[in-house]
Amino acid sequence: MNYLGISAGFHDAAVSVVSHDGNILFAAHSERYSKNKHDKDLCRDLLLDAMDYVDPSQIEYHYYERPWVKAMRQLRSGEGFRWPTWNRLLGNSYNFLDQPQIHTHAHHLCHAAAGFQTSPFEDATVVVIDAIGEFDTITIWDAWYDFSTGKAQYKKLWSMKYPNSIGLFYSAMTKRVGLQPLDEEYILMGMAAYGKPIHLKDMINELVDSKDIFTFKQNLHIGVDENFLKDADNYNIASTSQELVEHMISRVMSKARMIGSSRNLVYGGGVALNCLANRLLGNFYENIWIMPNPGDAGNSLGAACLGYGAKVNWRDCFLGHNIPGDYPVNSILDILLTDKIVGVASGRAEFGPRALGNRSLLADPRGNKIKDQVNEIKRRQKFRPFAPVILEEYVDQYFDMPRHWHDSRYMQVVGTCRNPELFPAIVHHDGTSRIQTVPNDRSGIRQLLEKWHFMTDCPMLLNTSLNIRNEPMVNDRVDADRFQRLYGITVCS
Ligand SMILES: [Fe+2]
Repeated sequence: MNYLGISAGFHDAAVSVVSHDGNILFAAHSERYSKNKHDKDLCRDLLLDAMDYVDPSQIEYHYYERPWVKAMRQLRSGEGFRWPTWNRLLGNSYNFLDQPQIHTHAHHLCHAAAGFQTSPFEDATVVVIDAIGEFDTITIWDAWYDFSTGKAQYKKLWSMKYPNSIGLFYSAMTKRVGLQPLDEEYILMGMAAYGKPIHLKDMINELVDSKDIFTFKQNLHIGVDENFLKDADNYNIASTSQELVEHMISRVMSKARMIGSSRNLVYGGGVALNCLANRLLGNFYENIWIMPNPGDAGNSLGAACLGYGAKVNWRDCFLGHNIPGDYPVNSILDILLTDKIVGVASGRAEFGPRALGNRSLLADPRGNKIKDQVNEIKRRQKFRPFAPVILEEYVDQYFDMPRHWHDSRYMQVVGTCRNPELFPAIVHHDGTSRIQTVPNDRSGIRQLLEKWHFMTDCPMLLNTSLNIRNEPMVNDRVDADRFQRLYGITVCS
């Protein structure tokens, strides 16, 4: 039997397939097929792609939360209640799949499984922090493998319940500064570097109670009052929000260290995408694993992992749609050396929100002009820096990495650039960079970096996602051709 995990019905629909022997055959986001950002519905083309990797008669279906428990919360909190049915949650896809029997799993358990069963650890303390599952908003678990069966075991040690939620707090602040909650939290994080956390005392007094590890004085699900910090500068609000979030995450990690049995940390939930806050994790744990898609789309893989039961064979995050052919190292290099900017759309697409080399816009990171040139193509806020992708063995030479972070293979953490004047395009206002390290794994991006390093003596490139403005990442060659036509940048396959 194979195991198909589904995340759908709320936001960021996705599908993952784990084989009978624990290989991850496929994992991808609906938005990449429908072109509807954060699409909540399962796209038919996504399912067709998934079915290419598996015999449809040999599939067991697993869903990423318990819809009826979630409906109880909605009923109790007055969020608006509609009795959930598979037809409503999965739309036309339910009929397309021949209305199968679907197993359901608790939302935070799926986050825990997506992290633990893909991790290199035999045991771990798992911490999940997101906006909200059914009722849970933060959970701490012990996870280990049963010696005789090899099956993963989970014991929930502690939880925080709705409406107290770090994720809902951060989304409320995202809305407060005029950004889109559940989408643009990463922009709030980027804005933090331009402000100062001068409103910390006011924010705590107004919103936070220090009972237990902390609770909130109001339900932030609907956002804060528009008069909250009325005349404050948005950058200072962003900086204060980041400071408070980091303080609260530290409180949670401290509790996890106290009650968890393992010294290995698996961290999941949407808040684990906050690469600025992730610097702090090394203060609590030496061994850290954050899978590249720790948010709700990644829960499709968590549900499939729970179906399979044991540790899965994790290789890398290139699990989505395939553009066949060898990685076009020489074509990319030729263009980089002459024009300095090039697109690449090759091989399996990344599973997760970040382009890590297979659907990327790459550029020479040196010099003062490149940031504006890439920004011109991406048409995004000028204050936002781009990320460096670097040969892993050179990371310490170019960046000061946070404590106990030896690599950052999926851009999970920021480091401080040692020579920001040489690489202004990849350094943020506060001197940090969101780093992607590439191990010696013979991936396409590795081969490219090795050759680029040999020819230029620079072991890194600028890497940003290949997407048309306001659209999800490029998925197939048709998207790549559209990008090429619109922006006049060659996209190699
Ligand atoms: Fe979640």
